[in-house]
Amino acid sequence: MKISASILGMKDDFEEHVKKLSETDIDYIHLDIMDGIFVKEKTWTKENICFTKYLNKPLDVHLMVKDVYSYIDAFSLLNPEFITFHYEASNDVDSVIDYIKTKNTKIGISINPDTKVENLLPYLKYIDLVLVMSVIPGKGGQIFQNKSINKIKELKEIKKQNKYKYLIEIDGGINDQNIKSTGADIAVVGSFITESTNYQNQIDKLRKNS
Ligand code: DX5
Ligand code: ZN
Repeated sequence: MKISASILGMKDDFEEHVKKLSETDIDYIHLDIMDGIFVKEKTWTKENICFTKYLNKPLDVHLMVKDVYSYIDAFSLLNPEFITFHYEASNDVDSVIDYIKTKNTKIGISINPDTKVENLLPYLKYIDLVLVMSVIPGKGGQIFQNKSINKIKELKEIKKQNKYKYLIEIDGGINDQNIKSTGADIAVVGSFITESTNYQNQIDKLRKNS
C-alpha cells in the first residue's frame, strides 16, 4: 500500500515541515485544496502556495472546490501525478474528466462518505483514481468512518469484473491501527504523521501495519 501524506495539519514554519516531509520515503504528498465554498475552510490558491520548491515527491492534488476548472488550470501547473475533483462539486462529470485529460495528469474522482459508489459507475472506465472519503471533507484530525471500507470492497469488485485500471485511495482518519483494514491501494494520512515530530517514524509504523 502506498502512503500519501496530507500536509493540511501542519502548523507554523510551513516550508520547514514540507522540506522535512520531502526528505522521508513517503510515496506522495497530498495537497488539500479548499475554496471556502465547497467546504467551509480555505487553504491554498495558486497565488499563496509558498512551498512548491520543497515538493520533491509526486503530488496528489485533492480539490475540494466548486469551480473545478480554474483550480485544475492552476494546479496542473505543478505537474501533479493526480488531480482529483469531487463528484458532488460537478454537474457535468464527463466534461471535467475530458478537461483534466488535456492537462496530461491522471484523473481522480472523490466521493464523500454519504455518496454511493453507484454514482460513479458511468465514469469508472475513464479514470485513474477513486478517492473514497472516510471523513467529511474540510479538516484533518477527524475519526475514521468504518462504512468507507465497504465502498472500497465494492470498488474492488467492480474493477475486477470490468478490468478497469483505477487505483483506490482512502482519505481521512487513517492511522497504524486501521490502515490495513481499509484494503486501499493508497492511504492518505495527515495528523497521524504531522502531529509527530518524527515523520519517518510514523511512516514506518504505517508501512509495518499496512
Ligand atoms: C480532509 C482532507 C484529508 C485530511 C486527512 O478534508 O481531505 O486529506 O487532511 O487528515 P487526517 O489524516 O488527519 O484525517
Ligand atoms: Zn484530502
